[in-house]
Amino acid sequence: MKIAASILNCNFLYLAEEIKKAEAAGIDCFHLDVMDGHFVPNLSFGIPILKCLKKIATKPIITHLMVKEPEKMIKNFLPDSEGIIFHLEATKKVRHCINLVHKEKKCCGIALNPKTSYKKVLPYLEEIEDILVMSVHPGFGGQKFLPEVIPKIKKLKAIIQKVNRPLIISVDGGVNYENTPLLRAVGVDMIIVGTFLFSSSDYKKTIAGLKCLI
Ligand code: DX5
Ligand code: ZN
Repeated sequence: MKIAASILNCNFLYLAEEIKKAEAAGIDCFHLDVMDGHFVPNLSFGIPILKCLKKIATKPIITHLMVKEPEKMIKNFLPDSEGIIFHLEATKKVRHCINLVHKEKKCCGIALNPKTSYKKVLPYLEEIEDILVMSVHPGFGGQKFLPEVIPKIKKLKAIIQKVNRPLIISVDGGVNYENTPLLRAVGVDMIIVGTFLFSSSDYKKTIAGLKCLI
């Protein structure tokens, strides 16, 4: 299981140090939460922060677009992201979004909100690399993990066994020591950790603790 660090709740006053500390702690990649204040009730950050992150980070950056009509924005985030995840609920042009990402030979993921049925992503399983199962309602870091998404993960895990191309399941929101063993048990491939990491006093210890559980 891989660990991605969501920088939404890191200390932006010391962004460079935060990125270096997270990498030294042993994370596998960064997760950049882009919010537009329309698809989700919060506005986060955009290209300038992504470019700063790209200058400092040595690990891959996966951009999580929580934006309406992501087809209008994907192009801007592609150059500095190794992967782009967009929300199924946010667009009527799903295949167009997938094609935009793959045209630049980047990884493409589809995110499902907690209330969105796993069935909605089934038509695209042979075309994407990542299914991001939201374990919180998107928009803010530091929320409580929603255990009701576990059955959805189990169903998706069983279905993607039949997909004969690399396809992972990621989980995003409220991930911590308590729920990580459960996520591993149901076959999650990547956890996204934000507040649990950046609110801790020792990033190395926090990541080491998670690695003992995965
Ligand atoms: C929520 C974001 C998540 C969140 C993760 O909308 O997609 O990536 O920031 O942060 P924590 O771990 O604080 O829930
Ligand atoms: Zn996210």
